[in-house]
Amino acid sequence: MAQAKYTTHQGMNDILPGEVEKWQALERLIHREARKFNFEEIRTPVMEQTELVVRSVGRETDIVSKEIYSFTRGEDNYVLRPEGTAPVVRSYIQHHLDQRGGTQKFYYIGPMFRAERPQKGRLRQFHQFGIEIMGTGNAVADAECIAFMIHIYDVVGIKNTTLKINSIGDPASRDNYKQALTDYFTPLKDKLSEVSRKRLEKNPLRILDSKEAEDRPLVENAPRIADFLNPESKNHFEQVKLLLGELEIPFEEDPLLVRGLDYYTRTAFELISPDLGAQDALAGGGRYDLLAEEIGGPSTPAIGFAAGIERLLLACEELEIDIPGLLADQVDIYIVSLGEEGRKWALKHLPKLRRHGVSATMDYDGRSMKAQMKDANRKNARFAIIVGENELKENRFTFRDMEASEEISLPFDSIVEKVVT
Ligand code: HAM
Repeated sequence: MAQAKYTTHQGMNDILPGEVEKWQALERLIHREARKFNFEEIRTPVMEQTELVVRSVGRETDIVSKEIYSFTRGEDNYVLRPEGTAPVVRSYIQHHLDQRGGTQKFYYIGPMFRAERPQKGRLRQFHQFGIEIMGTGNAVADAECIAFMIHIYDVVGIKNTTLKINSIGDPASRDNYKQALTDYFTPLKDKLSEVSRKRLEKNPLRILDSKEAEDRPLVENAPRIADFLNPESKNHFEQVKLLLGELEIPFEEDPLLVRGLDYYTRTAFELISPDLGAQDALAGGGRYDLLAEEIGGPSTPAIGFAAGIERLLLACEELEIDIPGLLADQVDIYIVSLGEEGRKWALKHLPKLRRHGVSATMDYDGRSMKAQMKDANRKNARFAIIVGENELKENRFTFRDMEASEEISLPFDSIVEKVVT
């Protein structure tokens, strides 16, 4: 086959028929389950103002410093959104959604963009579903947020996961902790990996999630955030753990979990799958109690998470799980029509079938009977209606069960009845 002249960008994939049915099934499942938890869907544009993302995610993060797709057009600065939280918070502030009263519970599904080095489970255009619970600082919201995340994987059938949680406290405790890390790592600088040496200057917290072998023993002995938390953060973390216990959600405390975005305060968590290889984070999230104020809105404690859809699908593939509710790539009826009159009849009767909720198609090109039957097979048609000169004359049509290879002659209305029941 000739090589295509134009192709997708690296790390940005077409989702083709055959694959797209899984996405549709998963999206249906997310919409349905989100409703059960009383989350409302929110859709924001894929482009935002650069400054919003820089202020929210953090100038020194990998996402902003290396991975952002941005451009200017006239006076305006655009970024392709690298994540969904900042846009949702921006929307909440812009539309005064706090004035609807009570806690606001949103969910979203959509594409995100990060110019990372593509590999298995790591793309440049990837898709997330996520939730944001805004307007409450109560640990009950943390528990519900995590419960929803686990619930989705449970319903899909991915049970073998590890929930890691940590508290990264308020900004003051975190600044003290960062100082302690700087004091600890600086004399060891020469033993650190090159990435970590850079992180030491910009954000020593990120050394903690370094995957470099030479960093591991140094990280093991580094000071722990738990010793720097203020009493409120400590107490909040204790409550979250207690509530998870009550919900019978198993978790591991991971003092090295810091997350790669700057807006987090207090609770941070990740869901890990051993079935994914290097990119093993299925989902991640946490509290961001100060973000709304930071970007010019009212003080709004909030928590949320986001999950990678491609990684969820990879885990399904690995575990040989079919997404529940997957619809077969099938059509109910293929009308095989012969001659001009047959084709007219087919075109007129397709809408009648579809009005009855039956999926139906036909050949548009007047191909031979053999070619049309082949096409019906290729499209996995359950039934074929064969419309030739004789059938039209008698007003009875050959109705063929494709799987059983059985045919009977019936009037159109009886065929509809048979397929609908
Ligand atoms: P995040 O940890 O950056 O958090 O991303 C969440 C999930 O998105 C990851 O666990 C992973 O499954 C998926 N993901 C991230 N980057 C890629 C990529 N390049 N390719 C494929 N999948 C990827 C956030 O985005 C936060 N906004 C989560 C949040 C919501 N925190 C509070 N509310």
